[in-house]
Amino acid sequence: METLRVIGGKPLHGEIQTNGAKNAAVAIIPAALLVNGICRIENVPDIRDVGVILEMLTYLGAKVTKVDNNTIEIDSSCVSTYKAPYDLASRMRASYYLLGALLGRFGQAEVALPGGCNFGERPIDLHVKGFKALGATVDIIRGQVEARAGHLKGATVYLDKVSVGATMNIILAATLAEGRTVIENAAKEPHIVDLANFLNAMGARIRGAGTDVIRIDGVKSLGGGSYAIIPDQIEAGTFMIMAAAAGGDVLVKNIIPKHMASLVSKLEEMGVEIEEYDDAIRVVRTSPLKPCDVRTMPYPGFPTDLQPQIVALLTLAEGTSMVTEDVWDNRFQYVGELKRLGADISVQGKTAIIEGGNTLHGAPVRATDLRAGAALVIAALASDGVTVINDPIYIDRGYENIELRLSKIGATIERVYISNG
Ligand code: UD1
Repeated sequence: METLRVIGGKPLHGEIQTNGAKNAAVAIIPAALLVNGICRIENVPDIRDVGVILEMLTYLGAKVTKVDNNTIEIDSSCVSTYKAPYDLASRMRASYYLLGALLGRFGQAEVALPGGCNFGERPIDLHVKGFKALGATVDIIRGQVEARAGHLKGATVYLDKVSVGATMNIILAATLAEGRTVIENAAKEPHIVDLANFLNAMGARIRGAGTDVIRIDGVKSLGGGSYAIIPDQIEAGTFMIMAAAAGGDVLVKNIIPKHMASLVSKLEEMGVEIEEYDDAIRVVRTSPLKPCDVRTMPYPGFPTDLQPQIVALLTLAEGTSMVTEDVWDNRFQYVGELKRLGADISVQGKTAIIEGGNTLHGAPVRATDLRAGAALVIAALASDGVTVINDPIYIDRGYENIELRLSKIGATIERVYISNG
């Protein structure tokens, strides 16, 4: 059995590099199915979720070449099936992007209902609404989504709720459709802009990504090209919170500072010193942390994917903080694990009330999902003694080589293999 063993209580010092954005990569890789030519994609994070999506493309018949650890080339010209492998697709949430991409390319798609982190109900009704508006029929049969359209035709789609996945999936389906598609009340996350930039670099005509109205004028075909994925806003934020939790002085490199504005404002409220550069942010924490309140929201609000991490940090702040989760129904399951380390947190509906300032003590804990796992690493770095994090496989879904990279800035963290026998 694999575990991560952390000896806490040591400040972090030095420089750490942010990798390419996971949530952009898991959409841009399926988007390569729409391209008639070779796509070279750089700054691809070498993480489990990317591995699974590449496996799915290979299964479909795409030729995937690993140029180096973070660069791949995809040639989808030989793909002839619109049916995604059930087992792989049901393992991760982002497999839903194969629906939009295969529907866009073949006019039909069969993909298992998505799996992934469980934050309560994770519907795809808005994706389906978009596909139907473009002229597809969509049925859910035996755990599979089956979408069919003789011919996709542009339309206006209003998203009743801001959804990252639905916005990206409709972009994918509409890129090669006939005429204009307009997505109203679209999500504005940086990875949506990145997907649109990738497709535009291949010849698509997408305007307005990053605002709440996106216009896609369908084109006949996309040609190959080269593209580099943006830095991961959530990974960068996790490193910034780690530096604030452990104390010390860390320069987080390869960042787009604008993407970090909501986190920077909260860290400053807590008394953390922040210095912004063109593509890096320095985080210095020398004094005690102050409590604050946080509410998650779609971009540019505070990201839900940094909610567990900021809760872990607030357990260290002297006083009461409230963190309200407004994106997902059920994203506080990890709180029980933080309590094992001595955190005082109670959850009332959508809000976690954190009575901070207790000293945390290392203990055996379990990562329950990707960002919950990151929150445990944060708490472990600030705890006395040894924390053993079980199921680090969840952390590996989104963070490449976490123990190696954190060791380089002074953390004592190693992967330990324990025999079950
Ligand atoms: C993506 C991210 C995830 C992040 C989330 C919100 C990926 C692979 N995952 O997930 O890490 O937490 O954005 O930033 O990029 N909803 C509906 N109907 C739908 C779709 C969504 O009601 O058809 C609701 C969801 O239940 C949720 C909210 O909309 O309450 C936001 O979900 P959405 O933005 O779609 O999240 P994902 O794209 O699944």
